[in-house]
Amino acid sequence: MKVIVLAAGQGKRMRSILPKVLQPLAAKPLLAHVLDTARALQAERIVVVYGHGGEVVREALDAPDLAWARQDPPQGTGHAVQQAMPHVDDGDTALILYGDVPLIGEATLRRLVGATGPEKLALLTVGMDDPTGYGRILRDAAGKVTSIVEEKDATPEQRQVREVNTGILAAPVTQLRAWLARLKNDNAQGEYYLTDIIAMAVADGFEVVTTQPDAFEETLGVNNKTQLAELERIHQRAIARRLTDAGVTVIDPARIDVRGELICGRDVEIDVNCVFEGRVELADGVRIGANCVLRNATLGAGTRVAPYSHIEDTTMGPACIIGPYARTRPGTVLGEDVHVGNFVEIKNSVIADHSKANHLAYVGDADIGQRVNVGAGTITCNYDGANKFRTVIEDDVFIGSDTQLVAPVRVARGATLGAGTTLTKDAPAEQLTVSRARQVTVPGWTRPVKAAKKS
Ligand code: UD1
Ligand code: MG
Repeated sequence: MKVIVLAAGQGKRMRSILPKVLQPLAAKPLLAHVLDTARALQAERIVVVYGHGGEVVREALDAPDLAWARQDPPQGTGHAVQQAMPHVDDGDTALILYGDVPLIGEATLRRLVGATGPEKLALLTVGMDDPTGYGRILRDAAGKVTSIVEEKDATPEQRQVREVNTGILAAPVTQLRAWLARLKNDNAQGEYYLTDIIAMAVADGFEVVTTQPDAFEETLGVNNKTQLAELERIHQRAIARRLTDAGVTVIDPARIDVRGELICGRDVEIDVNCVFEGRVELADGVRIGANCVLRNATLGAGTRVAPYSHIEDTTMGPACIIGPYARTRPGTVLGEDVHVGNFVEIKNSVIADHSKANHLAYVGDADIGQRVNVGAGTITCNYDGANKFRTVIEDDVFIGSDTQLVAPVRVARGATLGAGTTLTKDAPAEQLTVSRARQVTVPGWTRPVKAAKKS
């Protein structure tokens, strides 16, 4: 099968500098959704018809399996498909998709393509209560499709027809090429209509079969930001539905956003308003509290993330306790049963099993061993204004509160750092190191008093 994706429309109604087909749905360009569906169908060739100004589209989405055909200026859907034909060999079936109809489903398309044959053309149609603006499917007395008439060319009676053309169709390549060559633009819009091939096919003795999508939403197009927002919600509801069907507890399926791939084990629970970006993997029994953002993360079994945490490019072992209000940044690797508490930021650091940083800390460019306690207010001073340096904290170290570790520095196994220490040299194993000034009490000291005012 060959797939031709029409994406040369301008999309002025988006009122955006970004071309319409690059507008994101679940963080992925509209056109990329369609291309991924074409790939899932194992299309042997995918040709994208793009328009004036579409070089940005091509640059954004180019891939070895794509061919690009420029249509400039756009002169209708038939003209668009004509531009793609030099990239498509004869024989086999051509499937025509729209770059701004992103939710079209693989199963629906398989059924459509399966309905074509040597003497058959297949149209994807839907019934609409209000068909305004769409091409109408015309049938003869026996119910056979005879042609499609565009709204602007239709008679009042034809406009009564509620079965509409979704624009998506499949046809044998060889005949499609011949029909396209005969298109004329003598119609209300002065365009070369792809839909005119239907009457040609019928005249050539072809049967025109119609199939319907699994869900009506699959055929919705995007013309403005309002429709984009509507499709986003439809798409997110479908993702939430797949998660709950797979056994994930989603506290409110209307309040979850998955902008990438979310893979869940058994008994995963996700509270409201969480956003998942990139590839996120949650092992069995993971619980995510409300209002968390997770991006490219892998969480081990039983790990709990409390509300308002932000997790990015992070790997966590099992049984970790994170947040509330924790932030893990790229390069964070946590072992088993690691605790990261409120207002703790971790970056490019490895923290081994059973270690804890529970309150108000910055751990950057550090290697922390097992069973380490990082006290409240601890900061790794990893940056001298020009370069970054690592801090190494070995197993069983206890770091007192409000400590600064001026990297590069090493705290050896079992060491204790007294609260308030500013560590600038390595701390030896098993001993207390403390850098703060000794506490003194001044005997006989009295508080100053204000001099009495003269009256
Ligand atoms: C088209 C169909 C109509 C159908 C409707 C479904 C035709 C003549 N009409 O109408 O029967 O009900 O879609 O939404 O086919 N495009 C190009 N180049 C062009 C024109 C369009 O690439 O020169 C692309 C657009 O980017 C879009 C798609 O083709 O992805 C459809 O174009 P649009 O202008 O929306 O077609 P309609 O007039 O709505
Ligand atoms: Mg349209």
